[in-house]
Amino acid sequence: MSTMETVRARRSVRTFSGEPLRAEDKQKIMAFAETADNPYHLPITWMLLDTKETGLSSPVIVGEDTFIAGKMRRVPHAEEAFGYSFERIVLFAETMGVGTTWIAGTMDRSAFEKAVALSDGEVMPCISPLGYPAAKMSVRESLMRKGVKAESRFAFADLFFDGSFDRPLRAENAGKWQTALEAVRLAPSAVNKQPWRAVVCGERVHFYEKRSKAYAGSDWDIQRIDMGIALCHFALCAEESGVPVSFLQEDPGLETPANTVYIATYIAE
Ligand SMILES: Cc1cc2nc3c(=O)[nH]c(=O)nc-3n(C[C@H](O)[C@H](O)[C@H](O)COP(=O)(O)O)c2cc1C
Repeated sequence: MSTMETVRARRSVRTFSGEPLRAEDKQKIMAFAETADNPYHLPITWMLLDTKETGLSSPVIVGEDTFIAGKMRRVPHAEEAFGYSFERIVLFAETMGVGTTWIAGTMDRSAFEKAVALSDGEVMPCISPLGYPAAKMSVRESLMRKGVKAESRFAFADLFFDGSFDRPLRAENAGKWQTALEAVRLAPSAVNKQPWRAVVCGERVHFYEKRSKAYAGSDWDIQRIDMGIALCHFALCAEESGVPVSFLQEDPGLETPANTVYIATYIAE
C-alpha cells in the first residue's frame, strides 16, 4: 500500500470489533513508534494503555481494549512535532488494518495523564484507541461524523496558492507538488477545521496555519498539531511521488490573510 493509498483509506474509527489487539500488532506498532521521528527532532515517549488494567475509556469510542498515548517536554514546536510523529504511527497502523482516532478532547484527560505518569513540564497532547474496526459504525459514530462533516474537505484551490495568497492554485496546475498537496488536503484535523494553507513558490512550499477564532488566545495551540499532520502527509507523499524534500523554518515574509501564521517550508532537493 502506498502512503497516498493509506492516506485515502484512513478515517477515524470509533467503533471496534471487541477483538483484543494482538500481541504481535502491539509489538510492531511500538517498534515503529520508536523510529517515528519528526522534522523538529523532538523526542516523544509512547505508551500502550490496556483498558482492563487501567479502567481508561473515551465516551466516543466503543469496543476498544488498547489506547496509545505519547508524552513529551512542553517546548516550542511540541505541537507540530507531536502531530508529525503521531500521524506516522496512525498511517502505519492503517497499513496493518488497525483503526485509530486522534483524540485531544473527548477523554478524561486527568485519568490518562495519571496513567502515563505525566510530570511537570510535560504534555500528553493526544491519545488514540488501537483495534480492529467493527463491521458497522455505532449510531453515535455516524452522528459524530455528520456533525463535523468528516467525509468532506475544502477544495484544493481554497487551501493552496501560487506565489502569493491572492492566487489560488488548482490541482491541475500544481505540477510536481500535486500529489503531496492532495495528501495534505485529505488529512485529519481537530473538529475537521483543516487549518493548513500552503503557498507554492517554485521549488519551495511554505506552510501556514489559519487559526480558528475559537482557539485563539491559548498558549497551547491544538491546530499546530494539525499542521504537524499536514507536514507529515506532505513530506511522505512528496518523497513517494519522486520529489525528495528538505525541511526548514525561514519565513519568506509573504503578505498573509488575517489570523494566518507561518509554520515551515519544504524545499525540493
Ligand atoms: C488533533 C486532533 C484532535 C482530535 N480530537 C478528537 C476528539 O477529541 N474526539 C473525536 O472524536 N475526534 C477527534 N479528532 C478526529 C477528527 O474529528 C477527525 O479527524 C475529523 O473529523 C476528520 O474525520 P476523519 O478522521 O474520519 O477523516 C481529532 C483529530 C485531530 C487531528
